Amino acid sequence: MTSDKREAAYRELIPQLTALLEGEHRPLPCMANICAVLKEKLGFFWVGFYIVDREELVLGPFQGPVACTTIGKGRGVCGAARERKEALIVPDVEAFPGHIACNPLSRSEIVVLLLDEDEVVAVLDIDSCEPDDFSRTDARYLGEILDMPFVKNIKGLYGR
Ligand code: SME
Repeated sequence: MTSDKREAAYRELIPQLTALLEGEHRPLPCMANICAVLKEKLGFFWVGFYIVDREELVLGPFQGPVACTTIGKGRGVCGAARERKEALIVPDVEAFPGHIACNPLSRSEIVVLLLDEDEVVAVLDIDSCEPDDFSRTDARYLGEILDMPFVKNIKGLYGR
């Protein structure tokens, strides 16, 4: 998909997702449907959430092949994004020190934060089979998608 087409797809799906999730503040159904929409409409290889559980990140709703269940503190792209408290775009996963290869077909990756009053409560991780498949445009639209009321209810999902 060209970057223009992807941008057009984001513009189309954001109001659809907003309507779909309107009034739903429970995190799991929201996360599940966000994964489904992003996977179906944008054709990514893997789309999923990792949810903060104390020091670790634990697999949440996702679409795609099986993935690792737990990511330790600072590990992988997801752990690094959480520690640095910033979205990370990785054009070549093999060049990222500590990248966790859940599937050898993944070539590039983006991780975007879910923030509750400045605290990272989860991350959205998207993998692509294409190298260098993500840009700041993806980060911007994904950030817009994740700015929804359900984010306030993620903290405590694992008991704290
Ligand atoms: N590659 C990720 C791990 C999760 S999988 O991509 C689904 C990382 O390095 O954090």
